[in-house]
Amino acid sequence: MRNNVKVYSNPDVGSLEVANHIASIIRDKQQKGEQAILGLATGRTPVDVYKELVNMHKNEGLSFKNVVTFNLDEYFPIHAEHELSYSTFMKINLFDHVDILPENTHIPQGNLSFSEIESFCNEYEQKIHQFGGLDFQLLGIGRTGHIGFNEPGSTTNCKTRLVTLNEITREDAINDFNGLANVPTQAITMGVHTIMKAKEIMLLAWTDRKAEIIKKVIDGEVNAEIPGTFLQNHPNVTFVLDHGSSSAL
Ligand code: PGA
Repeated sequence: MRNNVKVYSNPDVGSLEVANHIASIIRDKQQKGEQAILGLATGRTPVDVYKELVNMHKNEGLSFKNVVTFNLDEYFPIHAEHELSYSTFMKINLFDHVDILPENTHIPQGNLSFSEIESFCNEYEQKIHQFGGLDFQLLGIGRTGHIGFNEPGSTTNCKTRLVTLNEITREDAINDFNGLANVPTQAITMGVHTIMKAKEIMLLAWTDRKAEIIKKVIDGEVNAEIPGTFLQNHPNVTFVLDHGSSSAL
């Protein structure tokens, strides 16, 4: 197996390792008097990583005052206050429980008018650039092979933009939205190019539900039909798995 694949006995152990790694980045930057620029993900996969980071804040004094975050994506259209927006997800799972400065958190806006989208996306890219780029990007993987919401067909040079969600991705959100008709059809996502420029990437996948796509992402031919395969060309990527998600490797 490749040396950048780490398999843990269960998601709890893997999530703790990832949280410890993120905490070490934050503390390293604190010692240097610098900000830690983190790319964050939503979905079921990173929930326990955030839980561990909140624990470290409450019990070990880990401060997020020097942390700047950029989230991968947001549904479109959706209001930030909507209970299923990724903005709400981040508040519930992390931001409301740590001392991060609200002005240091960035999430694509899901309630823009169509005419505002392009300039918003350009500014999102510029802001990441102004902060010196992402020190670290956390990723999950969709069953379509998407990273962020870069669905099949996304190319290596795509940047932050409005995209149409794949039907498999929408079906995976049926339970959250209580029916397919309620699942948004579009999203704003960082591009593959944006993600690939991160200095370090960790892609997490749990359970055998992700085994098939993980096999393709790690061992398959690099191609736009499975955007996760582009990560094979990243110089500092780690695939963090459990027994289930690694079972086809
Ligand atoms: P999940 O989604 O964490 O809810 O499985 C991952 C993804 O779609 O990137």
